[in-house]
Amino acid sequence: MIWYPYEQMKTMKAPYKIVDANGVYLYTKDSKLIDSVSSWWSVIHGYKHPELNQAIISQAEKFAHVMLGGLTHEPVQKLSEKLQSWLPGDLDYCFFSDSGSVAVEVALKMALQYFMNRGEEQRTMILALEHAYHGDTFKTMEAGDDEDYHFVLKAYGPSRYVVHIPTNIEALEKAFMKYHHRLNCFIVEPLLQGAGGMRMYDVSFLKKARELCDRYGVLLIFDEVATGFGRTGNRFAADLVLPDILVLGKALTGGYIGHGVTVANRKVYEGFYDDNPEHALMHGPTFMGNALACSVALKSIELFEKHDYMSKIRRIEEITRREMKDLSDYRIKEIRIMGGCVCIEVKDSASLKGYQQFAYERGVFSRPFLKYLYAMVPYVIKEEELVKVLDTMKEWFN
Ligand SMILES: Cc1ncc(COP(=O)(O)O)c(C=O)c1O
Repeated sequence: MIWYPYEQMKTMKAPYKIVDANGVYLYTKDSKLIDSVSSWWSVIHGYKHPELNQAIISQAEKFAHVMLGGLTHEPVQKLSEKLQSWLPGDLDYCFFSDSGSVAVEVALKMALQYFMNRGEEQRTMILALEHAYHGDTFKTMEAGDDEDYHFVLKAYGPSRYVVHIPTNIEALEKAFMKYHHRLNCFIVEPLLQGAGGMRMYDVSFLKKARELCDRYGVLLIFDEVATGFGRTGNRFAADLVLPDILVLGKALTGGYIGHGVTVANRKVYEGFYDDNPEHALMHGPTFMGNALACSVALKSIELFEKHDYMSKIRRIEEITRREMKDLSDYRIKEIRIMGGCVCIEVKDSASLKGYQQFAYERGVFSRPFLKYLYAMVPYVIKEEELVKVLDTMKEWFN
């Protein structure tokens, strides 16, 4: 028996059973659906991509996996070299994990231990954003701020280790003034907060955060598990403002295999690099650097560059703005668009009830949550397919 995610199993509606997938389409036994969710925002090249498939097949013929404890291999070496040259600044040191949540855990552990290694053991606190989502493991839940997902944490009472602030500069300055000597890091989903409601904010906030982190010696962590690889209309938000630690996941493997990476800059890496064995980073997921995941990630990045995905994303944003321009309805609170993400926030979640089935009947797979009806399409989507996704959203309010 499968226990499905985020569902009350007693009342959940039967999931659609997918029997095939190709390009932007998911196939059930008798229907064809455009996937407007990109399998939780990860399938940027669409399904059954011949080159991605081949990358996995070729690697599987050699070996699928060997552990990184005491062993290494070409796909993981090549991927870390590629990320080192492709990512901005001195974000050069790649620690691989098997999921986005674990990669964020690693980032938070790195930040804490970085200061422990320096003898600054009082720096136990994390600054994070209201409505943040960083994963479903315990420390990521604590850094997150979404009771709809993580109400189980209430059992522990308020955390002494995390402070949440809204995305405004005044609150940011106040938090640094008050807590700077106890903070080890400030973690954000830069520009776009995904699971917390597709909330968008300005780069000036990140610039200020960088300035304050520098002033008070706090590490800045960008969780780009969702925003990375173009989703905000930037390749990475880290191209605009440089963090000390960058976390990637989801689209890293083109959505083929769960994998994440925590990329540290030189300063952070050097905080661990010395003769003291206790200063080593004590972490090592069994499947870190999985050879299939690394091979497909390399191919995914190659496609991203070769086919100028940034221009595809700009086009998606342009079409979305054009199509959504005239939509207004008494039930809608706000329409937000950024890069390859569009979100309609409604005033009352009841007005989205039934939307999934409505979309299904029109050939679109969608999964609204709470008050948010959104699309994060695969970047290979054609104009008419994207218009169909957006028309379906608009038709719901007609
Ligand atoms: C910003 C962010 N961080 C971390 C995660 C967790 O990634 P995973 O589901 O691969 O553990 C997610 C997943 O949605 C995310 O959106």
